[in-house]
Formats: sequence, structure tokens, C-alpha cells
Amino acid sequence: MLSLYDEMKSLSLKVDDYLSTYFRKEPQFLYDASYYLIRHGGKRQRPFILINSGMMFGASLESLLPAAAAIEILHNFTLVHDDIMDNDEERRGVPTVHVKFGVPMAILAGDLLFAKSFEAALNLLKNSYTHKQVVEAVKALVTASIEVCEGQALDLKIAESKDFPSKEEYYNLIELKTSSLFKACTTIGSILGGADEPSIEMLKEFGRLYGLCFQLVDDVLAVTGDPSITGKPVGNDIREGKKTLVIKYVLDSVSERDRSKLLSIIGNRRASNEEINEALSIIASSGAPDRVRLEAKLISEKAISILKNFPKSRARDMLINLTMEASSRSR
Ligand code: IPE
Ligand code: IPE
Ligand code: MG
Ligand code: MG
Repeated sequence: MLSLYDEMKSLSLKVDDYLSTYFRKEPQFLYDASYYLIRHGGKRQRPFILINSGMMFGASLESLLPAAAAIEILHNFTLVHDDIMDNDEERRGVPTVHVKFGVPMAILAGDLLFAKSFEAALNLLKNSYTHKQVVEAVKALVTASIEVCEGQALDLKIAESKDFPSKEEYYNLIELKTSSLFKACTTIGSILGGADEPSIEMLKEFGRLYGLCFQLVDDVLAVTGDPSITGKPVGNDIREGKKTLVIKYVLDSVSERDRSKLLSIIGNRRASNEEINEALSIIASSGAPDRVRLEAKLISEKAISILKNFPKSRARDMLINLTMEASSRSR
């Protein structure tokens, strides 16, 4: 039996083969800048989730490829612009697009990716889906695109502010910026699989919960991760003033002295590497990262319980296996 990782790898290869066909055009420097991040890896979790959500209801892998490509391209678009917004210099173990190609070209590369995502989705029309299914799939992409912008706006606003968001505000923000794409994956997959309305709603809720869990852990990795595994720098979230749940829990639990030390570093773009390292060690010994991972685990268990309402199938079990690992991931 194929393990989760073998299966992810084999699906990624198929998705990547198909994806590459969208980037063989002129002017080459624009297509190079747009394809650069895709070419340098990534976990391909969104296409994996979309494909398995479709296969759960009987869609074929081949017929789902345009949708899988669309979601991965849209995701990469958000990453290119996110790295400009977050002043991040490394992703997937390589310099970010704006560092490599300059900010103006990175903005344009992002714009092209955004349009390409819809080009890919419309190619579903070449497969045996009804117009209604394709329109509904494109609608889900549109909804996700809008929600990501709304979430990213809140993310920036909160980073600029002195105040910490409430837990509810934080969850709302991550639901918009991150769950939105995962919801699109499960919604599009189930629509294309021909699922009935209640099943589509259940899959959407699974995607929402998976996304919450995923972002909680992303925020933990931003302050505890090993850059050689995540491919992303550690600590920059602190400089940028990201007031994530893990930081909130750290401040709840540390001594007054560490608390004021941390508060003087969070959001200080001129903080030295020494200060960032000091903040990281306070965070590491605070117990907050484990507390957030536990919270993520409870959410992932809820997500799994939704999938268990569906008959056992290889695709369903792939989604369950992926979700079982979501709260403990290190990359
Ligand atoms: C990064 O997503 C952006 C978030 C929503 C946290 P991934 O962690 O899935 O990034 P790649 O695609 O694997 O690089
Ligand atoms: C993830 O934002 C959401 C989007 C990219 C839209 P983050 O800023 O938290 O993600 P990373 O950590 O840079 O990948
Ligand atoms: Mg970022
Ligand atoms: Mg960001």
C-alpha cells in the first residue's frame, strides 16, 4: 500500500507535469518569474486535497487536473504577493520572487498567476463536466480570492496595530486568509465529483477546519521552525509584528520581565538578530507552541470526524491521514 507521502509525491508529479504547460510562453522573463516559485517545490497540499475530495465522489484524477492546477497556481499567486507584504526573503529554500526579480516584476508575476489560475479552471470545460459544475467551481475560486484579500488586509492591519486581536478576531483572520483556499479545494473537488449539496457543505466545513489547523501550525513554525526544513526564515513574523495566537499565549504565560522584553521586540523592524534570538528562546520555553499545537489537534480531530461520515475509500483515507499529521507537521 502506498504511504501518504508516496501518494502525495505521485500526485504532485502529475499535477506539476500538467501545470508546467501553462508557463511555456513569451516574454520568457515574465513566465520565468511566474513559474519560479512553483518550480522550486512546495508541499502541493491544496491539489492533493482537491483531487482526493473529487475522487471520494468518483471523479477521475485526469479530469480534475485543471482544477488542481488552478488552486495551486492561485496559492502561488498569494505567496508571491504575501512575501512582498511580509518582507520575507526566503521561501521553499530559495530567495523570494521579489528578491530574485525585483518588486515590480514580482507584482506582475503574481498578477499573471492570478489570471492563469482562472485560465486553468476554465479548461475544465474540455473535460466531461457540466457547465453548471464548471461555473460553480469557478465561483468557489472567486470566493476564495476575495476572502484571501480580506484576510490579508486584516493581517496587515493587526500587524500595524499596537493592540492584540481577540482570539475570535485572530480565528476570523486565519479563516479568511488561509481556510478560504482549503475550502475552495474541498468545495471544487466535491462539486466536480458530483456530490449532493449536504455532502458539499460537509466537505467545505472539513476544508475550513483543516485550514484553521494548518495556519495555527504555520504560525507556530514561524517562530519555532527549522528553516532547513520549512524553507522559510524563522523569526521574521516577530519583526513584522504578527500578533498570532502563539505569541498571544506566550505573553499570557511568561514573567513580567520576559513579557516586556518581548513587547519591545515585536513589531520592531530594526530588531537585531540577537534580539530576535532572545525572543525565540523565550517563546520556545514558554509552552505556548505546544498549547497551540494541541488546539490545532482538537480542530483536526473535528475535521476527521466529518470525513468519517462518508463511506470508506482510498481517497477519503488519504484526507484522513493528511489531517492526522496536520497538527504535528514540521514543514
Ligand atoms: C504557506 O502555505 C501559506 C500558508 C497558508 C501558511 P504552504 O505551507 O502550503 O506552502 P507550500 O506550498 O508548501 O510552499
Ligand atoms: C499565509 O500567510 C496566507 C497567505 C499567503 C495568503 P502567512 O504570511 O502566514 O504565510 P507564510 O508563513 O508567509 O507562508
Ligand atoms: Mg508570509
Ligand atoms: Mg502573510
